[in-house]
Amino acid sequence: MRPIIILFALLLALTGCHSPTIKDEGEDLTGIPYHPKPYNLSIPKGLTPSPWLDDHILTEEGVLLGKYLFYDPILSVDSTVSCATCHRPAESFSGGKGKSRMALTLLNVSYPRSGYGWDGRSKRLEEHISYMLNSTMYLQLPDAPLIQKRLISTAYYPKMFRKAFGIQNTTEINSKYIVAALSQFLNILLSGDSKYDKVVRGEMFFTPEEQDGADMFFDANPLLPDAECAHCHIPPLFYSERFANNGLDSVKNYRDFTDPGRGGITGISSDSGKFRIPTIRNVALKSSFMHDGRLQSLEEVIQFYNSGGHRFDNYSPFLHPLGLSEYQEHALLSFLQTLTDSKLRENPDIESPF
Ligand code: HEC
Ligand code: HEC
Repeated sequence: MRPIIILFALLLALTGCHSPTIKDEGEDLTGIPYHPKPYNLSIPKGLTPSPWLDDHILTEEGVLLGKYLFYDPILSVDSTVSCATCHRPAESFSGGKGKSRMALTLLNVSYPRSGYGWDGRSKRLEEHISYMLNSTMYLQLPDAPLIQKRLISTAYYPKMFRKAFGIQNTTEINSKYIVAALSQFLNILLSGDSKYDKVVRGEMFFTPEEQDGADMFFDANPLLPDAECAHCHIPPLFYSERFANNGLDSVKNYRDFTDPGRGGITGISSDSGKFRIPTIRNVALKSSFMHDGRLQSLEEVIQFYNSGGHRFDNYSPFLHPLGLSEYQEHALLSFLQTLTDSKLRENPDIESPF
């Protein structure tokens, strides 16, 4: 009996010491070739390359890894939520909600903006991706050992991290590479070939109604009211690098805004109620609108602007009741619909791999 027990104990002790060392040493990946190929980014005809893109060297392997991570709930604390849960491809990479704010679209996210987030909290894209990953309001990325363990337990991630970043061992998998890969993927989400762009290039014509909508949007026809939109939603990206209060909330005091927006970051009371002026390319693909998703259709958005919204001290001087007729409201809607880029969804590089 005794020698058997000793042998058994010895075996237990051996395996007991052995498995942690295997884990600590990780797995050698140097047998897998590391030859990243530059990613051939095709810039839609209506855009020029982002001046910020130089910061990112895109590779096929990096973009592919970023795509897997984007669609994979593996990064969230309880493995239930992925980036795509809130940034839904069919809804202009938007549509989901955090605690109180609507997800911003990720299309053209590589272009300069006055900070990422509705309040402009992050200066750089990587910084904001880190925020989305780590914030308890969003993914709440597990701690380093756990996320490493999860990724290593799949058949593909160790190989993909090696191929994208040349890591030599699975122990090198970390959040820095996760952020870098996600950033590469987000950089390929470009939209700039809608009907509007084709009309600008002379390849198509607007319908008379769309033309009336465009004329009001850009104040191009003295016979039609000026809808003032293009002061803030400026082509080609139909956004501006500014924050504005477009009159959504009825308040008596700066403290009354339910979400202070930009004011929550700067601490300046007159920034309260100001939000980033978002791009409205592909906006017709969305199902709720504004920073908190309070409006449920583009018709409501246009009715809101037509009403002029709520005046307050920091209310933008570009806004006022527009006096649009029912036809004119509809014409403006028709124009907004020409900003949808239907080609976008045909790109296999952005489709979910799962
Ligand atoms: C629970 C929903 C949710 C999830 C999951 C989520 N996001 Fe977001 N995302 C949001 C919301 C809401 C905002 C606006 C945040 C704000 O204003 O504070 C946002 C904003 C962003 C922005 C800023 C865009 C801009 O134009 O400023 C980026 C970039 C982004 N998310 C990337 C990601 C990535 C990458 C992931 C996955 C790692 C992710 N998000 C997961 C809801 C989500
Ligand atoms: C003073 C600048 C300004 C003007 C002028 C302006 N907007 Fe906006 N727009 C904004 C801001 C800021 C937001 C985001 C506000 C928020 O959510 O708090 C916004 C949001 C939107 C949205 C919702 C986007 C989304 O993703 O939810 C649409 C659509 C829109 N504007 C269309 C228009 C149209 C059409 C006009 C002209 C009738 C117009 N805007 C005029 C600043 C402006």
